[in-house]
Amino acid sequence: MDLLVIGGSRYFGKRLITLLRESGHRVTVLNRGSSAAPEGIERLVADRDDENALTSALAGRSFDVVVDQVCYTPRQAEIARRVFATRTRRYVMTSTVEVYEYEDSAVPVAESALDLAAVTVDTGLPWEDPEFLDAHYGEGKRQAEAVFATGSPFAWTSVRVAHVLGGADDFTGRLDHYARRIRAGEPISVPVVNHPATYVYVEEIAAFLAWAVGADFTGPVNAHSHGPLATADLCAEIEKLVGGRTVFREVEVGEVSPFSFTRSYGMDNSRATALGYSFTNSGEWLARAVSETVGVER
Ligand SMILES: NC(=O)c1ccc[n+]([C@@H]2O[C@H](COP(=O)([O-])OP(=O)(O)OC[C@H]3O[C@@H](n4cnc5c(N)ncnc54)[C@H](OP(=O)(O)O)[C@@H]3O)[C@@H](O)[C@H]2O)c1
Repeated sequence: MDLLVIGGSRYFGKRLITLLRESGHRVTVLNRGSSAAPEGIERLVADRDDENALTSALAGRSFDVVVDQVCYTPRQAEIARRVFATRTRRYVMTSTVEVYEYEDSAVPVAESALDLAAVTVDTGLPWEDPEFLDAHYGEGKRQAEAVFATGSPFAWTSVRVAHVLGGADDFTGRLDHYARRIRAGEPISVPVVNHPATYVYVEEIAAFLAWAVGADFTGPVNAHSHGPLATADLCAEIEKLVGGRTVFREVEVGEVSPFSFTRSYGMDNSRATALGYSFTNSGEWLARAVSETVGVER
């Protein structure tokens, strides 16, 4: 197939394009050109926020499937919906567990917990402001999904990705937050009631997306490995690797460490499983993921 990946140059996007290419697909990436494209991958350069630039970069091109790795706002989704209307038959949007930011009633959370038809889309919000976007990450993704869900000219799916672990190139610094404190025996802030969450290994989410490219289901799908993990599970694994000691400090209010959660929003992956995807269990890869990310010199 002829495939386009928007993004594809940072984390699991890199692994995704490698997998797609190894499967024999013709892969093109589109990004702003901050880093070189891997060998054998054609690259188009454009800022996807700039509709004219995006349209020019895509001149004369169409694709069997587009994977949109970097759609964060309803405005970006509206541009993509217009620009790709006649350029693809299937669109895979990489989304996030954070779309469930208001759904902490039923655990694990299934796709149906979020009614996209009821989401208010507001393209007038300051989505270009990085601080606003950072503070409204889940809301931006919800609204982007809602744009695609209502009247897309192509078949559309959103992959609601759990927190991703693993890889020396995990740029988020979340596991390092724990490793630094455990090494030094410094306290790690957690909420008094700290809920476990669902996670996925970096290689597994790339494989899942590659599978979703070749499938024909539509609508949202949750993607995570089986076996939720608590903050203590992550810390125990880090302790084994770096030595030191985990000290938790319970806080009533205020900031807590990145993988500790005041609310319960572990996802339910039974839709993906019923569609035919076989997830690993987090116990199979946690040690490897931690050593890849934390085991490197910082
Ligand atoms: N990490 C997690 O735990 C986690 C969890 C859930 C969901 N996610 C989702 O994962 C996705 C990101 O995955 P990834 O990090 O592997 O990304 P990726 O596919 O590697 O894409 C990142 C690249 O996209 C390009 N890009 C960014 N903004 C752009 C723009 N305006 N126009 C064109 N290109 C742009 C950048 O390259 P240039 O600078 O060259 O443009 C950047 O390096 C996001 O949708 C995020 O919500 C991540």
